[in-house]
Amino acid sequence: MKVTLTRKLPVATDICLFELASADGSPLPAFEAGAHIDVHVGGFVRQYSLCNSPADGAVYRIGVLRDLASRGGSIAMHALAAGTILEISTPKNHFPLDEHAAHTILIAGGIGITPLMAMAEQLREAGRAFELHYCAREPARAAFRERLAERGFAEHTRFYFDSEGPEARLDLARVLAQPHAGTHVYVCGPAGFIDAVLGAATNAGWPAQNVHREYFGAAQPPTHANGAFQVTLASCQRVIDVPAGTTIVEALRAGGIEVPVSCEQGVCGTCITRVLEGVPDHRDLYLTDEEREANDQLLPCCSRARTPMLVLDL
Ligand code: FES
Repeated sequence: MKVTLTRKLPVATDICLFELASADGSPLPAFEAGAHIDVHVGGFVRQYSLCNSPADGAVYRIGVLRDLASRGGSIAMHALAAGTILEISTPKNHFPLDEHAAHTILIAGGIGITPLMAMAEQLREAGRAFELHYCAREPARAAFRERLAERGFAEHTRFYFDSEGPEARLDLARVLAQPHAGTHVYVCGPAGFIDAVLGAATNAGWPAQNVHREYFGAAQPPTHANGAFQVTLASCQRVIDVPAGTTIVEALRAGGIEVPVSCEQGVCGTCITRVLEGVPDHRDLYLTDEEREANDQLLPCCSRARTPMLVLDL
């Protein structure tokens, strides 16, 4: 879809809010809290969560952290001027909110606030019980602080700033002390932050199906061998060599086989492929623990093989 960047607004140190409206005046497709869009910018395709209320469907709003360590997508976004026409995907949701939960705990680390902001907006509008725990390095780096100071948010929101010392840190054991079947937990932020929340939830006895997460950024570096292996395409029995240091997607592409990709970092799920034989070496941040253990699908943009051969449903 073509959209116009109608507004670009700094909302915190290194974070801008981008407001996108339909370029031709037709209504934008509806979206759900937790959804993201792919944005084509500067030769990159990047995923950004929608942070406005799904009820406010006339525009899409995304919050983008300018990350100097990134491969350039966020820097290209921050260089855009209002009025620019952009190409985006329709919204996709891999992080859906159960709006009917008796209670919802939202835990944000840094720019991970963006999908949780849309969830807070929806929960507030629906009059549902929720709490938002928002961790950032310092107040100036916390986006949406003005919005979160408004009635309907302020009484549900707590901020935790690293700059205020160890005693101001989020006490996960306390926040997650009481697992309850009717309560759902949603966490988004850097990988280490999410892992800490998931670890605390497991320790406290939360059922896995009540804890939902969305990672930002690239998959973790591999913890074991990065060697060569082969994949077989089940439809034609063709065998493709995947050399060390080459991803399955790259090896397939070199053989003339295109797998749809977007992030190429194991985050978005676009390239998900069924595994018919062999054991994948999962290196993505997309699959749940249960899905990894099933070993019947993988993200070939980053994952590899634990067995010499993988047979893929391609
Ligand atoms: Fe995004 Fe593979 S392309 S997970």
